Amino acid sequence: MKKKWVLAIAVVVVLIVIWFSVAPPRFILNLSKKVAATPGCGARLVQDYGCRQCHQIGGRGALVAPKLDGITQRVDDPARVTLRLWLRNPKAVKPATAMPNFHLSDYEIDAIIAYLEALDRGEAIPPGGC
Ligand code: HEC
Repeated sequence: MKKKWVLAIAVVVVLIVIWFSVAPPRFILNLSKKVAATPGCGARLVQDYGCRQCHQIGGRGALVAPKLDGITQRVDDPARVTLRLWLRNPKAVKPATAMPNFHLSDYEIDAIIAYLEALDRGEAIPPGGC
């Protein structure tokens, strides 16, 4: 009887570990990837996540996907609702999209948006610390 309980708890723990690594819930992302929401950090994240493998950002990168230069000026959405949703989970906005889900934390999303906004204001932002 006791052994069964140990086994059941072990199964639950394993399932939670799999869940947290395959599709980490937002609160885990926000705990584990807490960064400074600065443009410099955004530049570092864009570099580290390899966004330029598909997008042109700051005049550099591939054109496999839409250019992100000018994106913060293209739509009149000061709260960045769509941009934020897109970065959280691309497939939730467009199910057939080729863009992978990077499981970005809210802090990382803020940093990337701050970077894109600074670029669109014409500032040169070198990758900095987070
Ligand atoms: C494997 C290629 C790929 C990578 C890597 C990638 N994206 Fe994308 N992304 C796409 C594609 C393709 C689209 C266009 C969506 C569509 O129409 O399917 C897109 C769309 C977007 C959009 C919405 C553009 C718009 O006009 O609304 C944003 C914002 C974006 N990506 C940001 C990022 C960021 C930030 C990164 C890095 C963390 C990134 N992407 C990495 C492929 C990629």
